[in-house]
Amino acid sequence: MKFEDFKIMATAAAVPDHVVDNDQLSTMMDTSDEWITQRTGIKRRHIATHETTSSLGTAVANQLLKKSGLMARDIDLIVVATMSPDYLTPATAAIVQGNLGADNAVAMDLDAACSGFVYGLKVVRQMLMGDQRKHAILIGGETLSKLIDWHDRSTAVLFGDGAGGVLIENAEKSAGSFRAEDLKTLGSMGQYLTAGQTGQPTPFTKDQTATNPFFKMNGRRVYRFAVNEVPQSINRALAQASLSVADIDHFVLHQANSRIVERIAATLNVAPEKFPVNIDEYGNTAAASEPILLNQLVKDGIIKRGDVIALSGFGGGLTVGTMILTY
Ligand code: ACO
Repeated sequence: MKFEDFKIMATAAAVPDHVVDNDQLSTMMDTSDEWITQRTGIKRRHIATHETTSSLGTAVANQLLKKSGLMARDIDLIVVATMSPDYLTPATAAIVQGNLGADNAVAMDLDAACSGFVYGLKVVRQMLMGDQRKHAILIGGETLSKLIDWHDRSTAVLFGDGAGGVLIENAEKSAGSFRAEDLKTLGSMGQYLTAGQTGQPTPFTKDQTATNPFFKMNGRRVYRFAVNEVPQSINRALAQASLSVADIDHFVLHQANSRIVERIAATLNVAPEKFPVNIDEYGNTAAASEPILLNQLVKDGIIKRGDVIALSGFGGGLTVGTMILTY
């Protein structure tokens, strides 16, 4: 028996309890519910008070075990896609592995910012491919609130915290769900979105300027990048799978801005109803946004077994990626 593909067995999500709405932000900085809603579609976001990327990831992993009926010892691989890990070391995935007691699992983090979940699907699929029956947990988890300058209205209103994930089993080709993928990195444009510069000057460093932990973004450049690159990435993946946009039941896009999602739907000439949005509730949660949305759609019965879905992420790096799969 050959194991050449993967199947999503379960989805899960966890977000911090504390909710911050646009009106509350308007008391902290010069902004308004009207501006944020019109420009982004965001109404509120969940912000960590005591939660961490690893605690949210652990909550997701525990739900995944419960939903799939597996024990922690059945898990062989844990990958956490994050741009806001608890530490540079240990990896957030290793903390989750320890919390679960998943002693048979190897664990590591992956950082491709808002494309992290799609890049993570590729990595997990490659690591499971051709192996005997194995199970992996892929989590997209973020506490972006700790990377935000809460005096900078141009970024503070955009982001939120949360985690989502999937439990993946490698399956025979016939049962497998992978259809096509397209990943692209544009490192020469990386300066348009930076966050979490690490380390402090040493006595030997020529430039003694302190590092900047906070988000810095050229919103217009990132917007233009997203509306140009994402449709191209989706089209390349569709061509690879010999599918057309009409064959896709749901486009599960990174939730950065509802205007970006609307523009991409229009460029592809697809009805906006096929592009579900939940940014109003969560803001931009980077690597967590697609698995949080995926879980919501599965839970609400909107995504059903056999549906063909296109997952697309885009953001820091700059990175973009699409994976087409049968759920
Ligand atoms: N409240 C009120 N006014 C504001 C705010 C705010 N929160 N933020 C900016 N403004 C002002 C600006 O100062 C500017 O004022 P001015 O005209 O007097 O100079 C005006 O609003 C317009 O600012 P723009 O930046 O041009 O606004 P824009 O319409 O481009 O919207 C936004 C900004 C929402 C950031 C948009 O550019 C965008 O969504 N960009 C893409 C972001 C993205 O997709 N990121 C994804 C990657 S995230 C990741 O990888 C982690």
